[in-house]
Amino acid sequence: VSPDLFRYKRKNFLVRDKLRPKDLDDLQHVDIRPTDIFLITYPKSGTAWMQQILVKIMEAAQPDWVEDATNRVRVPWLEERTADNPFRERPDPRIFGSHLPPDMLPKGVKDKRVKVVYVWRNPKDVLVSLYHFAQSWVMLDSPKSFGDFFQQFLNGNAYMGSWFDHVREYYAAQDQLDILWVQYESMLKDLRGEVVKVCAFLGKNLTDEAIDHVVEMSTFKNMKADPKANYKDLIETNRYKKETMRKGVAGDWKNFFTVAQNEHFDKVFEEKMSDLPLTCVWEI
Ligand code: PPS
Repeated sequence: VSPDLFRYKRKNFLVRDKLRPKDLDDLQHVDIRPTDIFLITYPKSGTAWMQQILVKIMEAAQPDWVEDATNRVRVPWLEERTADNPFRERPDPRIFGSHLPPDMLPKGVKDKRVKVVYVWRNPKDVLVSLYHFAQSWVMLDSPKSFGDFFQQFLNGNAYMGSWFDHVREYYAAQDQLDILWVQYESMLKDLRGEVVKVCAFLGKNLTDEAIDHVVEMSTFKNMKADPKANYKDLIETNRYKKETMRKGVAGDWKNFFTVAQNEHFDKVFEEKMSDLPLTCVWEI
């Protein structure tokens, strides 16, 4: 892997973060409460989007949970060691974000003691989004070229390792987890329909008006303008160079992949994923 990353248990972590293998191992012992919710993604698959949806659902379901803080603070990152990440000390229900594979999650998660929302996205768009993010986030080195990054991603050498492994590992672990799979493209196609599914999964019975509000607050346009949701504080504190609310569409890969790259990607996808009975609808 490149010098900005270190490999541990087949995943790639940030050299510039304080997190080390022992901290990752210690996460196995994080105390889990039955009300906890885990939002899990491979990077750039719709994490911030689902953070907003979960936060708005919980605010509607439990008005005393409302808090004047950013989603980044309210949905702390499990595997991030920064001073402003007091991840254990959140009011119930706690919502954690994570990119970790199932075997590195706290033990209680794998006993079906908590709800897991897994958001996944067309890996071609994930690749393009991560390519831009690597030029923005100071934790990562800027890719030398798109071609270089393309290969890095396919080889499983990008941040957090292989997209293919991530999805496969969650598929293989689903009997151990209380998990809802949500596709990014399905949210683009029918955001309200997906919000309703998330509410049902979490056992939150919201009124139609409350659901409409969650949906309204979670559109790309509104999130981009929402200082609690748009991560612009990280630009102000020089951690991001560019907006992470970049395009928010399906199919941007068509503006970056050559025909040859696309054929190569399809071949790898076929090799690695064709035995999984997962229905993915990438085109919307
Ligand atoms: S991260 O850094 O891993 O947490 O990034 P993540 O939030 O998973 O993914 C960022 C991409 O999600 C897009 N996004 C959205 N798309 C549509 N609608 C909404 N509301 C929304 N919110 C975030 C964001 O624009 C990134 O995708 P790209 O393709 O780069 O635009």
